[in-house]
Amino acid sequence: MATGVVTASYIGASILFILSLGGLSHQETSRRGNMYGIAGMALAIIATIMSDNVNTYIVLIIMMAIGGSIGTMLARRVEMTQMPELVAMLHSFVGLAAVLVGVASYLDPNAHFEGVEKVIHEVEIFLGVFIGAITFTGSVVAFGKLNGKIASKPLTLPGRHLMNLGIVVVSIWLGSVFLNAETVSGGMAPLIIMTLLAFIFGAHLVMAIGGADMPVVISMLNSYSGWAAAATGFMLSNDLLIVVGALVGSSGAILSYIMCRAMNRKFLAVILGGFGSSGAGGGDDEEAGEYVAVSAEETAEQLKDAKEVIIVPGYGMAVAHAQHPVSELTKQLRARGTNVRFAIHPVAGRMPGHMNVLLAEAKVPYDIVLEMDEINEDFPETDVVMVIGANDIVNPSALENPNSPIAGMPVLEVWKAKTTIISKRSMATGYAGVDNPLFYRENSRMLFGDAKDSVDAILKFL
Ligand code: TAP
Repeated sequence: MATGVVTASYIGASILFILSLGGLSHQETSRRGNMYGIAGMALAIIATIMSDNVNTYIVLIIMMAIGGSIGTMLARRVEMTQMPELVAMLHSFVGLAAVLVGVASYLDPNAHFEGVEKVIHEVEIFLGVFIGAITFTGSVVAFGKLNGKIASKPLTLPGRHLMNLGIVVVSIWLGSVFLNAETVSGGMAPLIIMTLLAFIFGAHLVMAIGGADMPVVISMLNSYSGWAAAATGFMLSNDLLIVVGALVGSSGAILSYIMCRAMNRKFLAVILGGFGSSGAGGGDDEEAGEYVAVSAEETAEQLKDAKEVIIVPGYGMAVAHAQHPVSELTKQLRARGTNVRFAIHPVAGRMPGHMNVLLAEAKVPYDIVLEMDEINEDFPETDVVMVIGANDIVNPSALENPNSPIAGMPVLEVWKAKTTIISKRSMATGYAGVDNPLFYRENSRMLFGDAKDSVDAILKFL
């Protein structure tokens, strides 16, 4: 295929990716956004395969068949609640690919760069491998923290900031040794030592970040994987990879900023880690007291009498697959003339937009699904709040206890409603491992059981 056609296809694909990002920013247009993304990726792959740079078709087809089958199998099998882990794993692949491409392009016997071009190419390789290696191990640790194989508590080694700083300084020095190396074999040693240090750096960075800050870590690694892809694009002189990498890198950075704002955290403080370390339990013991349990029948009675109802979904709704009965409950209450709305916390569940996706799947109308800022002031005028499998996002200690590991995080102020009914299985803590004094408030009622079973039971009594 002529170079001009490939370039035109790459521009077309880049436009489709930008349209995709635009579409994905609203629920109503997200399906269209997805389609733009698929079309852009298909165009990009076809143009790359048809370009003059590619001639090893057999190897390519075999590798695409293997990768495509594994991807399809995983995507079919993965539960909605495991999506963040899958995303973390995919980010690690991008990081590892950047490392491998970097080393391969350094060893490439056909690459003949001279003078300034050689320096630029080697800087691209060194940076690409550095970012890729951090992304790789950081994402693997994030994967472990999300699926519970690694404790979500932050690892705060003594002198950890000094250690991080030391790794950065040594890596910069290794970079200068690498750039001044006369031969490829002379440059390999600093490149490999830096890669090993960056592996440790990535793992340590994420190990030091506490449970409640994981949303920021996920979007931050998303951003890193974009920059790693952009660096790979520079190494391979592939304009499309540079554009796509920059899009992913910058949108991930914006998302990290939004997450930090939602959790009232400073970005740098999250990256440096250590938050959420002041011990599970959060020092709320003095607030722990008696809770009042309620049955599905009593809950149904309360809902029948209510004029204003707000439903707060959380991770437990996703685990229980309760979104469909919750949608049915909404329909029935609305048919009785009750004003039912949903309050969505920005970090509810385990990934950005988690609750919105589940509610959209269950056909809950978009216009009654409101963001925290839009609804948080309405709780005092609400008769019944139904908290379905949420915990950290409705924890008053975030606002009332400065010693709490989640202190300062804005939460949904559900305790201000006339009655708050909390559907969960036990008195266990949520992801951040922090006790929740909400359960012991005078106007709180605990509806114990799996969220789906509980909502199904309420529906029977309505
Ligand atoms: P959590 O605080 O994790 O609480 C979920 C609650 O659901 C648990 O306390 C659990 O209590 C209950 N539950 C689990 N399975 C259930 C079932 N089958 N039926 C009924 N209840 C069930 O969730 P949240 O309030 O949504 O807060 C999200 C947390 O995850 C925050 O700490 C956030 O920082 C973190 N996080 C978020 C993200 C993003 S981007 N959203 C990413 C990573 C981490 P029982 O065991 O007693 O049932």
